[in-house]
Amino acid sequence: MKSAAPTALRGRIVTFRADPFATDPSSALLIEEDGLILMENGQINAVGSYDRLRHRLSPDTTLVSYGKALISAGFIDTHVHYPQLPVIASWGEQLPQWLERYVFPAEAAFADPQLARDVARRFLRELMRAGTTTACAYCTVHPQSVDAFFTESERLGTRMIAGKVLMDRNAPAELRDTAASGHAESSALIARWHGRGRQLYAVTPRFAITSTPEQLEAAGDLLRTHDGVYLQTHLAENMEEIATVRRLFPERSSYLDVYDHAGLLGPRSVFGHAIHMTETDFCRCHETDSALAHCPTSNLFLGSGLFRVFDALDRRRPVRVGLGTDIGAGTSLSHLRTMGEAYKVAQLTGRSLHPAQALWLATAGAARSLSLDTQIGTIAPGMEADLCVLDPCATPLLRYRTERCASIEELLFVLMTLGDERCVKATWVAGRLIHENAGDTSSER
Ligand code: GUN
Ligand code: ZN
Repeated sequence: MKSAAPTALRGRIVTFRADPFATDPSSALLIEEDGLILMENGQINAVGSYDRLRHRLSPDTTLVSYGKALISAGFIDTHVHYPQLPVIASWGEQLPQWLERYVFPAEAAFADPQLARDVARRFLRELMRAGTTTACAYCTVHPQSVDAFFTESERLGTRMIAGKVLMDRNAPAELRDTAASGHAESSALIARWHGRGRQLYAVTPRFAITSTPEQLEAAGDLLRTHDGVYLQTHLAENMEEIATVRRLFPERSSYLDVYDHAGLLGPRSVFGHAIHMTETDFCRCHETDSALAHCPTSNLFLGSGLFRVFDALDRRRPVRVGLGTDIGAGTSLSHLRTMGEAYKVAQLTGRSLHPAQALWLATAGAARSLSLDTQIGTIAPGMEADLCVLDPCATPLLRYRTERCASIEELLFVLMTLGDERCVKATWVAGRLIHENAGDTSSER
């Protein structure tokens, strides 16, 4: 669903002219203090200073002015589980026990298609409230969980990547498929959803522990036989998990090699977590152009470890990285919160993540990690008109602190440290206003 009517947004535009990990972070930012974005038919037609572009405002253009609020590309969540929304904030476990105690029972409830529809709707509404316009999402083993998600995404007009979880062992019986049934159900879902409007399919083996070698081979077959589909799975998140993978696949040289052997690495493959990686693993990701999802709130919450973002992005063999919330192990759907936690994780590894680098991981870098950077992630002519508007004065403390900011970079840093959904004043999807937060009251369309 696109807005055909011409619309223009005026405000402080913040986007990228370059990769802030490859150049000086400040000069990678493209800032227009009093900017104008012209949108039509779901796309951005022009971006620049208000003074330069105002003559292009025709009488039928709707102009929305956001004053001193920042206009950014919509956030992109590269790793999230929508069915885990009901068990976000579940106490006391690390990954293997957390999956058994909370996640598997929650996912089993998706046998009920009505529940799947309800959670999908609530989840996507929360994403809009967070200013997140694209996500790479896990569904459950049930095909109807995928239908529920894409149906709601199609209604909103969002660009989403999602797929049915494949699990044929080491999971409760009601959550298991087989190598053959998982292949057949995934093929049918690809035929139904992949490339329909803005929806894209991801082949989704949960992780090496819950798939037999036959199922991983079947996933490889799906990738080889369907153009442009994605692959998402988990990698090297937790020490106990890694020991189990070693026991299950003694003939493989590493956890990553399990996936490599099945043909699962490539430019549309996104591996979640990747905390405990060797230099050989990073090199192999670089060679195959596989991407990693950095999920700081989840890695802290489950006590999994610290992702080394600067190692992953090492200029000698950079690996593409985007930010993921990893709900329900993650603790917030807000990418502002996630950027703030990514900063703290980097501090614990002795490095300071620049606010431009954090914003990059949440927008343009995330788009690049999903091979979608010609469509989303930056504000430029020809890009899809997915935007979020961030209010630097959303709370009294934010107002107090941001009044003292001397630069947009400082402002961004304060927003990512103190901000969350309350700062998202509006979310635009394909040129349409989808969420609006007017102080105490917020509305969804
Ligand atoms: N590894 C396998 N499944 C999951 C999951 O649902 N969440 C996280 N964080 N890690 C996993
Ligand atoms: Zn996950």
